[in-house]
Amino acid sequence: MACSNLLEYRGWVYPSQIYDRDKLEYIYNEFQVRDQDVFSITYPKSGSTWIQEILTLIQNDGDTTISQTVPIWERVNWLEPSIFSLDLDSLPSPRFLSSHLPVNLFPKSFFTSKAKAIYTVRNPRDVLVSLHYFSKVAGFLDELDNIEELLPKFLRGEVFGGSWFDHVRGWLGVRDQVNLLILTYEELLQDLRGSVVRISNFLGKELNEAAIDSVVENASFKIMKNNSMSNYSTFRKDILDVQKGSFMRKGISGEWKDHFTPAMSESFDAAYKEEMKDINFKFIWDQC
Ligand code: A3P
Repeated sequence: MACSNLLEYRGWVYPSQIYDRDKLEYIYNEFQVRDQDVFSITYPKSGSTWIQEILTLIQNDGDTTISQTVPIWERVNWLEPSIFSLDLDSLPSPRFLSSHLPVNLFPKSFFTSKAKAIYTVRNPRDVLVSLHYFSKVAGFLDELDNIEELLPKFLRGEVFGGSWFDHVRGWLGVRDQVNLLILTYEELLQDLRGSVVRISNFLGKELNEAAIDSVVENASFKIMKNNSMSNYSTFRKDILDVQKGSFMRKGISGEWKDHFTPAMSESFDAAYKEEMKDINFKFIWDQC
């Protein structure tokens, strides 16, 4: 699943139907991050939508009025895709913003600000599987590949979002210099309540027990899948057509085991080991 119309920007690959160079330049060079901003940063298919829902619910003390009535992309606005043309400067603080950008394309002003960012990482094997299915739904991606053909492209970074390894290494590399909370999709799955508490503590937002209960319940896969404001069923069909497959598809970890042959697994493991050898950080999946 290479992108059908590729835009290469400073070594990264984006689908040109929803990204353009001018916006990427503007976001990198000119966008003014504010100290009160909160970012959700992810490599694609790593739980961006989930964090967006959690942030909305935390910000509203567990009240679901906004999450049930306002489309998710208008609650936690995307930073860099040109398809979203809202003037982010006009938003009041605190702004909640979502991004897939790697550290070296992220707004320069972030690195001198006190803004907070949550970086959510997912086992790249499951990211690959999720990306494959997403390509059937996403009009801006070429859906020709099967997972076996996609795997080497993913390892080379020739997919939407570029190299998973560069993305993760980049953000982990600045974790002591910026206000960054690192989470994994798998931790959210294992302990959603504990993760919600971690996120609200990071944001300095105190929630009572009832509010935490509501965030956890309403950020569940089942409720989000049925929430038309979160499942992309109301989005532009030429960009995301959920009749071709769900956006909220399975929501599990370890699905890659049903798709990887032993040979695929071996080549993925070898590449992972080599790419991550200098990273002083262990993810949940590294312990398996
Ligand atoms: P799958 O395709 O494996 O089901 P993103 O929002 O970054 O595009 O990531 C999408 C992935 O997150 C999809 O994975 C989707 O099902 C999963 N997801 C979204 N909300 C979730 C939730 N509440 N619980 C579990 N997984 C969720």
